[in-house]
Amino acid sequence: MCGIMGYVGRGSARDVILNGLARQEYRGYDSAGAALRVGGEIKNIKIVGRVSELHRLVYADEGTAEAVSGIGHTRWATHGGVTVTNAHPHESADGSVVLVHNGIIENAREIRSRLEADGIKFRTETDTESPCQLLARIYAGNGGDARAAMSELCGSLSGIFSLVILFRDRPDEIWCARRGAPLVAAHTDEGGYCASDPTALLEYTHDMFFLEDGEFAEITPDGIKFFGFDGEERVKKSIFLHWDSAMAEKGHYEHFMRKEIDEQPNIVRLTIDAHTVLTSVDIEGDLNMPDGKPLASWIREIRRVQFVACGTSHYATLVARGLMESLDNALDVTADVASEYRYRSVPGGPDTLAVFVSQSGETADTLAAARGARGRGTRCIAVTNVRGSTLDREAGCALLTTAGPEVGVAATKTFTSQICLLNLLALQLLKSRGTLSVGDEARLIGGMRALPTKQQALLEREGEIRALAEKYSGSKGFFFIGRRESVPLTMEGALKLKEIAYLPSEAYAAGEMKHGPIAMLDEHLTVVALVPNDDLREKMLSSVAESRARGARIVIMATEGDAEVAAMCDDVLFVPETERELFALCGVIPLQLFAYHTARTLGRPIDMPRNLAKSVTVE
Ligand code: G6P
Repeated sequence: MCGIMGYVGRGSARDVILNGLARQEYRGYDSAGAALRVGGEIKNIKIVGRVSELHRLVYADEGTAEAVSGIGHTRWATHGGVTVTNAHPHESADGSVVLVHNGIIENAREIRSRLEADGIKFRTETDTESPCQLLARIYAGNGGDARAAMSELCGSLSGIFSLVILFRDRPDEIWCARRGAPLVAAHTDEGGYCASDPTALLEYTHDMFFLEDGEFAEITPDGIKFFGFDGEERVKKSIFLHWDSAMAEKGHYEHFMRKEIDEQPNIVRLTIDAHTVLTSVDIEGDLNMPDGKPLASWIREIRRVQFVACGTSHYATLVARGLMESLDNALDVTADVASEYRYRSVPGGPDTLAVFVSQSGETADTLAAARGARGRGTRCIAVTNVRGSTLDREAGCALLTTAGPEVGVAATKTFTSQICLLNLLALQLLKSRGTLSVGDEARLIGGMRALPTKQQALLEREGEIRALAEKYSGSKGFFFIGRRESVPLTMEGALKLKEIAYLPSEAYAAGEMKHGPIAMLDEHLTVVALVPNDDLREKMLSSVAESRARGARIVIMATEGDAEVAAMCDDVLFVPETERELFALCGVIPLQLFAYHTARTLGRPIDMPRNLAKSVTVE
């Protein structure tokens, strides 16, 4: 939620700030702004709308070419409407402090009343103006000691924040601070940088300093100093990020989402290679636990496994939960959304293994859920796509998906990489418990190995899926129905359509349709039925027949070769046969393409859907 950026150095501050905002626009895109220091002046340019519009305005002002430092922000509004006044950067009434913020300041109203009572005039409705005005007040009162002022400010704020700050009378510095919202800093010969997301800095360096909660930093062209909120200097080590900046480029694609859909076969391959040991004759499927502790030493004590995540990551955990349950039903395996798990009285302790899954590693609910579980003595593993993210750093044991940066707000490639990694983790856990048969292990690892070719074949049928999307884009709404392994996929298919096409779409376990939803069906609704050729096929076909009898239009996703289904629906989409437990990894590709082409037909802004943000760092 909100992307922030700061730079001071010898390069073009204007280019660095605007490029950084463009790379972080997925984090929020209600409004944007940049404050650039040009000579003795700070030019604060803000707009309602996209970074491209801000870019146009900033570059239209030729003076900004000389800027040596600056801060910038792309906003996902929480407090205060989407207006230019409420857009960041904010300036203190005396003009001494200019600040951008990601997060929510919980004691903002209290600070504001106190300062207003002292005659300070507030201009905006935001929670962010409070720390801005407060910092100016502290700084003026302590004789201009920036380090002491930052320490006092951070200690006075409650809530979550990452902040980047310019002091008007300190031209060679920017300051930043973090509690609860992501913040990364870096330094090169060209100067010092900070951002919400490391991908904004990848074109300058791969060496990143991830600020911890409770740290602030002074960034100058010559280096970075880190401090605790108590004002004491700290020594920090950088983390090397292997991502390449080209991975976060769109290339020849019209949208990031489309590019990321195409990357999936390769990512599945990489994930399996990174986490399995292959021999020429058979596949062992051994997962390397990164903390080096032999799983076998504690896994037998585990009585329950809890998967915890949000959004698409949650649906990936539902797939893994299904796999574990099907192989070892003596183990109690649950999959919860983090926003519920964190407030429920869930069991925990050393006989429980909790697996927290988050693409960004920054989702506020998932982080809070993981902290709660650790507090109960639960054994925790994190699965994330972002090295150096909070989840990665806080977890005792973290597994990284090898999907590379995902920019499209609607998750695609990270869903498949999460499922692959979670499946491998599940197999390893069961193997260590002694409940995975050699046959099942070889069958499933072999099935995963075969997936990239099948996924590629599906990608090559894009024309067919586009035609379907165009045909059904006028539907009043969609029901995605399935059973057992298909249920998580119905959820992901419906979510993709909601997220990027804004169409009402519901996911239902097919058996539940009769308990209410069937009342909604008529010729304006489309039912997408997932009918793999398994033991539940006949039951699915009964549900299809019931929906058809109510006039709904029917699209069936069936296993290749199942010619019979064509007569029972308006359209059929075939997917290659897979192991039953791996159906989602193939079936998701047509559903992603279907949502993509529906959204494209309807002219939606696919990579940046309205009201959403890729990384939800507030509760
Ligand atoms: C947001 C994104 C979703 C994502 C969810 C969880 O809602 O728009 O695409 O699935 O957050 O994010 P995480 O980074 O924790 O996987």
